[in-house]
Amino acid sequence: AKPVIIDCDPGHDDAIALLLALGSEKLDVKGITTVAGNQTGDKTINNALRVLSYLDIHKEVAKGATKPLIRDLITAAEVHGESGLEGPELPEPSFEKSEKSAIELMYEIINQSKEKVTLIPTGPLTNIANLFLAYPSVKDNIEEIVLMGGACFGGNWTPAAEFNILVDPEAADIVYRSGLPVTMCGLDVTHKAQVLGDETERIRSIGNKASKLVAELLDYFAIFHMNPNFGFDGPPLHDVCAVAYVIDPSIFTTKKHNVEIDISGELTVGATVVDYYDTSGKEKNVNVVFDLDREKFIDMLYDNLKKYN
Ligand code: BDR
Ligand code: CA
Repeated sequence: AKPVIIDCDPGHDDAIALLLALGSEKLDVKGITTVAGNQTGDKTINNALRVLSYLDIHKEVAKGATKPLIRDLITAAEVHGESGLEGPELPEPSFEKSEKSAIELMYEIINQSKEKVTLIPTGPLTNIANLFLAYPSVKDNIEEIVLMGGACFGGNWTPAAEFNILVDPEAADIVYRSGLPVTMCGLDVTHKAQVLGDETERIRSIGNKASKLVAELLDYFAIFHMNPNFGFDGPPLHDVCAVAYVIDPSIFTTKKHNVEIDISGELTVGATVVDYYDTSGKEKNVNVVFDLDREKFIDMLYDNLKKYN
């Protein structure tokens, strides 16, 4: 199994991404780190611990940055509610967070791993940037970074920017210029990864704790994305795409492009500027994910949820 670290801000789709990763025999989740984003740093670590406690899974979970590198934190209570994970009833955590900080835990895991580690960030990139600033040598033992963030076309938090990148554009800039292979699951693909029709009910009918949780997360996540906000036909599984890509890239369509982060634009700060027509001739530093086989993706989630007791 591939050694991975999930760096997240749960978050409904983050929580579902965690469940997919933990249920897959293709991945070995070495550690989970949390970051401020959808909600404050205190709430996102608590949510990660509550999800794992509900499932009786004791993984090391370390708390990371409580604010972006230089900006004030933006949160997404409109989408994820006051707790960051409104909807399902979850127990209080039954175990403590790690004594290490997120970057200490990531450093330790990457340093000790015999195989190169894949990073899967599904929130703002603050922790990953802090890791590279504090311990640049970790890059030698990182396989790739498969993240949810950005978009080639359009934004969801401003006309030009996707939420995760907008929250901490300076951190994103450090990660995109890190020299490591970066795969970007942005809105181009994640808006196609909607849960449609009776699929939520199909998931619920699996009947175990994990599927019940996912169905209740989807019920809540659907509210914001269906009318009037985005007018989607179902909730988009943004973060789940990043985990699914690491499990099986063959169900996704990608193309390499030069991508830079706008950190100073008045209208476009936080945009992932994709050189779609290769006008600059600059290095194609990012593998941009554009499309997916949606049905295979939903089946992957379904099959992995079935593996839980
Ligand atoms: C991203 O923002 C968050 O609200 C979601 O968890 C996802 O990571 C989508 O723009
Ligand atoms: Ca997220």
